[in-house]
Amino acid sequence: MRVYDLILKKRNGFAFNKAEIEFLIEGYVKGDIPDYQISALLMAIYFCGMNEEETLNLTRAMINSGDTIDLKAIPGIKVDKHSTGGVGDTTTIVLAPLVAAAGAPVAKLSGRGLGHTGGTLDKLESIPGFKTEMAVAELVEAVKKIGVAVAGQTGNLVPADKLLYALRDVTATVDSMPLIAGSIMSKKLASGADALVLDVKAGDGAFLKDRAAAFNLSKMMVSIGNGAGCKTVALVTNMDQPLGFAVGNALEVKEAIQTLRGEGPPDLKELCLFLGGWMLALAGKCAHPDQGMDLLEKTISGGAALEKFKELVRSQHGNDAVTEDLSLLPQSGKQVAVAAPAAGYVKKLEAEAIGLAAMMLGAGRETKDSTIDPAVGIVITKKIGDSVQAGENLAVIHAGATAPADQLDAVRNMIINAYSFQDDPVEKEKLVLGQVE
Ligand code: URA
Ligand code: CA
Repeated sequence: MRVYDLILKKRNGFAFNKAEIEFLIEGYVKGDIPDYQISALLMAIYFCGMNEEETLNLTRAMINSGDTIDLKAIPGIKVDKHSTGGVGDTTTIVLAPLVAAAGAPVAKLSGRGLGHTGGTLDKLESIPGFKTEMAVAELVEAVKKIGVAVAGQTGNLVPADKLLYALRDVTATVDSMPLIAGSIMSKKLASGADALVLDVKAGDGAFLKDRAAAFNLSKMMVSIGNGAGCKTVALVTNMDQPLGFAVGNALEVKEAIQTLRGEGPPDLKELCLFLGGWMLALAGKCAHPDQGMDLLEKTISGGAALEKFKELVRSQHGNDAVTEDLSLLPQSGKQVAVAAPAAGYVKKLEAEAIGLAAMMLGAGRETKDSTIDPAVGIVITKKIGDSVQAGENLAVIHAGATAPADQLDAVRNMIINAYSFQDDPVEKEKLVLGQVE
């Protein structure tokens, strides 16, 4: 096989067979095939696409490029959950203990925040003492013992994705559907779950702004998951405004604890029940996701969900007293209210702008090496559909004690500009836009 012929084949619109895809991925990871040839190949894939079989073969070849995690030592059906990333999305911190408390084991590998979206590991590490670094054997032991663990990626999972993603990033080929689907699914499948629920975000704060694209990606990922023997369901969910009220690490942990107590924001709770209902159904804990949702409601109201969260925090060396005393979480040095410039109904609350404003305060990373401040962020008071009087609070900025006045002004302006208002009442949009099974 020659790389040149394969680039030509894809450029001319033909499909690769399994051996060709393996040759390309193996050759690239080994360093036998240079970046310039893979760059041309990626661009050909961008324009000519890949069919279902090719995308599954690509995903498999990517998984085979590195280690995989074996969770077989944990009894039961292990269900994982993945979100394509949004603003203020605290669902994992609620869902992992919630679903575990309802009887399904959860071994969750999570990531850090980059750009305007936050990461579960950063959020959890705002709990004093909480450790997210775990070897695979520790992760397995923890899940066997208490039913849940949330850890950073361990081992050398999918090195092909690290190489390909870095190349896509500099060759304008990130937004190719089969490449995105292969990238996400190779990482999820390598982490060893038996079943998977995908939260594919669509809207202003998501990397897919377009709903049709979100459904298209969902179909591809569900087909890959099922094709690889992992029962997969995708929910396409609305990310036109931030989820819940809080955006920022410790602020989102607080919101997650409130949700586990049954006192959280309605949209965050609704999303957790939907995703969790599906997780329980795929884990064989109920016949239908609706029954799973009922079970999860009872798990929250009976206190078992919060109790499981405490166990999770203790198991990962954190101080579980935060669940009783939220002031034990890092507190921001300065709080500044943002007043509404005029009266009306909130028509828009652009999630991406709120995420960027929180990042500017220090809640997120501009580059992989930036450090974050766990205490800072934004708490929204008015969401889409709410009525507002002029001068009323739209949001509260949580800044560092030494945040300069010009930074606070810039953040305030970003928040005000993220809002649009209208005189007539606004109809609220659905949170769950659809599902792909
Ligand atoms: N997230 C990923 O992990 N990979 C992509 O290609 C895009 C989003
Ligand atoms: Ca939130």
